[in-house]
Amino acid sequence: MNERVAAALQASPIDTAGQAPVVLAFQQVTHRFGTRVALDAVSFDCRAGEFVALLGASGAGKTTLLRGAAGLCAFDSGVVSIAGRDARGLAARERRTVAMVFQSHALIDRLSALDNVLAGRLGYSPRWRSWSRRFTRADTLLALECLDRVGLLARSQQRTDTLSGGEQQRVALARALAQAPAVLLADEPVASLDPMTGAAILQLLQECCRERQVSVLCSLHQTALALVHADRVVGLRAGRVVCDRPPAQVDAIRIAEIYGTAA
Ligand SMILES: Nc1ncnc2c1ncn2[C@@H]1O[C@H](COP(=O)(O)OP(=O)(O)O)[C@@H](O)[C@H]1O
Ligand SMILES: [Mg+2]
Repeated sequence: MNERVAAALQASPIDTAGQAPVVLAFQQVTHRFGTRVALDAVSFDCRAGEFVALLGASGAGKTTLLRGAAGLCAFDSGVVSIAGRDARGLAARERRTVAMVFQSHALIDRLSALDNVLAGRLGYSPRWRSWSRRFTRADTLLALECLDRVGLLARSQQRTDTLSGGEQQRVALARALAQAPAVLLADEPVASLDPMTGAAILQLLQECCRERQVSVLCSLHQTALALVHADRVVGLRAGRVVCDRPPAQVDAIRIAEIYGTAA
């Protein structure tokens, strides 16, 4: 292989093992709050179409990691890359490729499901359209398609504060999908839902991740759900990665290591 071909191959997003490209990467990410170390040299990555579950006890650093990846706070050191580019250098227009779903859905209650999903398109509209909340027909069509994907097309005109918790979380997922993200970050998206509803939401998230080849990084409290739905489990303990493996290799001993109950 000549040098120029080798260099081009190196720069290619498809790696030589034929795996999907890495879309989200953390390299030696460290963050402190005062003297408390919340994240300690965290390094791992998520590939296109991969659903990575982030496990860890309360205070392990999950929210801090997700918020930093979403650009909601700056890490003290280390690098987050999105599609191979340092996230700090991304323009606002490129940031819209990172969507986030929160535990409490963070929707605008008095707006309809459709208007909430259209909010996911704001980053794509020219400013004057965003200010006046006038969306294109194409945006509206896309928003309706996303609502249809989460099973809520018939509720598109309903105010979100009249929807159930599970339905509201579906709207939040539709809003994230409407952003056409490359990366979808979810911080305990099913923590306030009953087990059946929570499992259904994760199933939907898993399907959307696969069919749209989105990298999903999702923190969860429920280990069982992570083992069923995730392609990989990353365990954080006191800000450090203590586990990074497929669910089939995560046994009770690994779980105990993650949650700090190991002897
Ligand atoms: N804004 C903050 N100010 C001070 N300490 C914080 C703040 N946010 C988080 N922490 C601390 O950082 C650590 C990680 O918190 P967090 O990322 O919220 O963990 P998790 O989401 O896994 O429960 C905890 O010790 C927490 O107390
Ligand atoms: Mg948290």
